[in-house]
Amino acid sequence: TRGDVAKGKVIAEQVCAACHGADGNSVASANPSLAGQHAKYLESQLKAFKSGERKNPIMLGMAASLSDADMKNVAEYFSEQKLKARQANDKALLPAGQKLYKAGNPVTRVPACMACHGAAGKGFPAQYPALGSQHAAYIVKQLNDFKAGTDRKNSIMADVAMRMSDADMKAVAEYISGL
Ligand code: HEM
Ligand code: HEM
Repeated sequence: TRGDVAKGKVIAEQVCAACHGADGNSVASANPSLAGQHAKYLESQLKAFKSGERKNPIMLGMAASLSDADMKNVAEYFSEQKLKARQANDKALLPAGQKLYKAGNPVTRVPACMACHGAAGKGFPAQYPALGSQHAAYIVKQLNDFKAGTDRKNSIMADVAMRMSDADMKAVAEYISGL
């Protein structure tokens, strides 16, 4: 069943807007944009923050006050908002970032991100989050979190991130932010 968008909107405007934008387009690069993200993925992350499986002190506080129904509703609301297209900041990194995103690196065995996150960065609803037009700084932090495996545990993404250098992360994040 789908969440109730009207109920979700009330939560978004009263609680989440300060950091994620009322329409899910955030301004500060540490705060991810949520607009257009798959509802199932947003809901799963809220549950992971609440249980402490994904560790973030700010989002733990936010998720702790939400019921399962609230999470479903607010996830549905943000998933229906329109994500604003962004431009990459550092255009010099785009060729390397695009290469990694689309083809991976056979030498270091980084898989192509495109396989799971889609050529246009829109992901696939049931399992794979959309990445396109997300803040590059947020993307880099997530890749480092997956690599370290303390704040964010995911076996698929840990295996991807552990093969990436800092330069790989920066380049691919720039490319993704402009998708
Ligand atoms: C991350 C939802 C309120 C700051 C996230 C994520 C979701 C989310 C789903 C993960 C996004 C992803 O994986 O792509 C919400 C909802 C809120 C809310 C539904 C309101 C009920 C806030 C507020 C702040 C905040 C008020 C700031 C005070 C952050 C930050 C992250 C984050 C910094 C990134 C955490 C990290 O680096 O892993 N939020 N949020 N959020 N949110 Fe919120
Ligand atoms: C999540 C980047 C390759 C599957 C993520 C996130 C980022 C990311 C930044 C977190 C999104 C967010 O917080 O909003 C990348 C990059 C890749 C890559 C840069 C290539 C170098 C892949 C591949 C797969 C995959 C090949 C599938 C085999 C997933 C899954 C999640 C995820 C399942 C969600 C994890 C969770 O629930 O916490 N990816 N990814 N990714 N990615 Fe990737």
